[in-house]
Amino acid sequence: MTATTTRTAELYKRYQEALFPAVSPLYGDEPLAVERAKDQFVWDIEGKRYLDFFGGVLTVSVGHCNEEITAATVEQLHKAQHTSTLYINELMVAVAEKVAQLTPGRLQKCFFTSSGSEANETALTAARMYTGNRDVITLRHAYSGRTATAMSLTAHGSWRLGGVFDGSIKHVRNPYTYRSPVDLTEDELLDLCVQDLEETLATVTDGKIAAFMAEPIQGVGGFIVLPKDYFKRILPIVKEAGGVLIIDEVQTGWGRTGTHMCGIEHWEVMPDIMTFAKGMANGSPIGCTIATPEIADALQGQTFATFGGNPVTMAAALATIEYIENNRLPENASSQGKRLETRLLALQGEHTFIGDVRGMGLMQALELVEPGPEKRPDPKRAAALIGAARKNGLLIGKGGLYGNVIRIAPHLNVTASDLDAGCDIIEQSLRDIA
Ligand SMILES: Cc1ncc(COP(=O)(O)O)c(C=O)c1O
Repeated sequence: MTATTTRTAELYKRYQEALFPAVSPLYGDEPLAVERAKDQFVWDIEGKRYLDFFGGVLTVSVGHCNEEITAATVEQLHKAQHTSTLYINELMVAVAEKVAQLTPGRLQKCFFTSSGSEANETALTAARMYTGNRDVITLRHAYSGRTATAMSLTAHGSWRLGGVFDGSIKHVRNPYTYRSPVDLTEDELLDLCVQDLEETLATVTDGKIAAFMAEPIQGVGGFIVLPKDYFKRILPIVKEAGGVLIIDEVQTGWGRTGTHMCGIEHWEVMPDIMTFAKGMANGSPIGCTIATPEIADALQGQTFATFGGNPVTMAAALATIEYIENNRLPENASSQGKRLETRLLALQGEHTFIGDVRGMGLMQALELVEPGPEKRPDPKRAAALIGAARKNGLLIGKGGLYGNVIRIAPHLNVTASDLDAGCDIIEQSLRDIA
C-alpha cells in the first residue's frame, strides 16, 4: 500500500485485523473502500467517483442500485423475507419458469442456491446420480468456485487451497489459442485438445464419465474464448463415455456475450445442465442449476438449501432478467461490445505490450506481455494499468493464470458515451504506463 489517504488506510488496518487475509481487497496496489454506487458509477469513502467497467466481477449486470431492481427487492422485503426451501413461494416458481423459457434445448427444472460454487456442486451431484458414473472432466484454466468440489474443478493452482481435492475430477488441455504450446493453427490446436481428452479418458478414467464441464469463455482464466468448433468436436466423445454436458454460465450468462441470453448459444450445442450466479440478480446472492427433467429427477433423496429460492433474491432475479429482456440488453452487449473491441484493437496497434485482444460482447480482455515473440506474461504492467485506470477514474479487472490479463466488462446497459469515456481512460492509462 502506498499513498492511501487516512480514512481508507484506517479502515484497511481494521479490515486486516478483523478479516481473513486470503480475501485480499487489493485490486491494484491499494485498497478501495466503497461508500456508495449508482448506475454506472462507484464512489469511494474519500469522495472520488469511478466509472465502473467491472461490476463487482460481472455481477452488477444492469447498473448499481438500478431503480427497477431495487424497487422490486424492497417491495418483497416488506412482504416476506425468508421462507427456506421448506415452503413454496411464487417468485421461486416464476424465476424457474423464466430460466427454463430463456435457456436452450430441454433444460427445464431449476435448483436454487446462493452462489456459483453451490450451483456447480449441485450440477455435479445431479450428473453423477443420473449417469451412475463418478469421474468428471473439465478444463485447465477453469475457475468454478471455492467449495471443496468447486476448488477441485478449478484449474488455477493459486485458487486451489487446502490440499485435499476430489480425485475423480480430471483436467484436460484447454484450447487457449493465444498460448498454443507450439505454433499451431486453431484447427491443429483443436485436434491436440481432442486427442488429450481421448487420452485422458483412456488413461485416468475407466472410460465412463458423469460429465464434461466447461465455461464457454473462461472468465477468471482471462476471458479465454473457446474456439467455435470446440464443443461440437468434444460432444460425441463425451456422450460415448456416458457423460452429460455441464456448461458454467456464471460469467457468460444473461446477455453478457451479446445477441443471446446464454453464452453457449454461440457454440450451437445443447447442454444437459447449466449453472448461473453473479449477474442473474444484479448483486443479490444467487446460484441456479437448471437441468433436463430426467437429470433433475435423478437427484433423489433429501437435500435442502436454506437460502435457495429466497423470495427477496428471487424478486431481484426476476426483475433483473425482465430488465435484460425488456431493454434488449443482449443486443446492446453485442453492439457496444463491438465498439469496445474496435477501440481495444486500435490500442493494440499503439502498444506492443498488448499481446492479445479477445472476448465476446461486453466481456473483453487485453493480455499484457513483454514485447517480443516469447509472449512472456507481464503481470506487473497489468497491475500498473489497473492502478493508472483507477487514478484516472475507471474500475477494470484482472485475471489469467499469470495475472497479466485485463478484464473489461461494463454493465449490459452501458451507453455509447459511457463506453467511449471508459475507453478514453483506458487509452490515457496505457500511455501513462507505457
Ligand atoms: C465461471 C465461474 N463459476 C463459478 C464461480 C463461483 O461463483 P461464486 O463465487 O458465486 O461461488 C465463479 C466466480 O467467480 C465463476 O467465475
